[in-house]
Amino acid sequence: MGFKGRDVIAITDFTPEELLHLFNVAKTMEKYCRSRLELLKDKILALAFFEPSTRTMFSFQTAMHRLGGSVIWFSSSEATSIAKGENLADTIRMLSSYADAIVIRHRFEGAAAFAAEIADVPVINAGDGSQHHPTQAMIDLYTIWRERGRIEGLNVGVLGDLRYGRAAASFIYAISMFKPKKLYLISPELLKVRSEVRDYLESKGVDYTETTRLDEVIDELDVLYVTRVQKERFPDPAEYEKVKGSYRVDLKVLSKAKEDLMILHPLPRVDEIALEVDNTRYAYYFKQASYGVPVRMALLALVMGGIE
Ligand code: NCD
Repeated sequence: MGFKGRDVIAITDFTPEELLHLFNVAKTMEKYCRSRLELLKDKILALAFFEPSTRTMFSFQTAMHRLGGSVIWFSSSEATSIAKGENLADTIRMLSSYADAIVIRHRFEGAAAFAAEIADVPVINAGDGSQHHPTQAMIDLYTIWRERGRIEGLNVGVLGDLRYGRAAASFIYAISMFKPKKLYLISPELLKVRSEVRDYLESKGVDYTETTRLDEVIDELDVLYVTRVQKERFPDPAEYEKVKGSYRVDLKVLSKAKEDLMILHPLPRVDEIALEVDNTRYAYYFKQASYGVPVRMALLALVMGGIE
């Protein structure tokens, strides 16, 4: 199982067997989420966040601290020499000479793959534009595996901004690797999934359907993955105005849901899940966010060579 030294650019770079290995390690890591292991005590992780982040950045930091390692980071390029005109390549080259691995989030698609070409150390993609967010997909699948006991054979709905959402796209790739019974892609017309994602589903022979109506499919679903409208990615603000607030999960629509429906959301939530849903048995999104730490601990320990 070769995680050591590997770049993490897209979820599709991993096999289902590798992901299950990661999940087993993550489950062990849950025991150490409130203490400290000394697995990476001589290692430094660089976090280069060119875009806003709460969960991803803090859970990577927490994970590295819990593994006994250290972190160097920036979360706004305003505070670095990028503000003086330094280019991405030079920034990465320098971080690569200081740290043992680099986590990068950037608004440009392909930024992490570009960084990986330059860096001599492993690069982990924490989101590149609308394209990929592989570690989020690992957490999403882990939540299903951990809470449901299996990932295969489920009816899975993905609701929201399937066009610009990297978390949604990565989740769709990820769940498709585990043979869903059926995939329901639920979005306003304007936010339908991109053609490369559709091509992927066809190449994998996934049974999927596209719809604009959650209420028409809610009773079929075992898992509902909700995402916000990615306002910052719209080239035209007028297009955003057309779709904002156009879908919402509330108690009314959930009255038709299966007893054991799981609702996931990568967060942040804006208004697409009503607050009244938080106290229902369907709400798994805060649990999901908490799994960010053990999953990222497992990934860092495997990639940085703390364990096999
Ligand atoms: C996601 C992201 O940044 O793509 N957030 C996260 O990492 N949990 C989802 C989003 O911003 O909507």
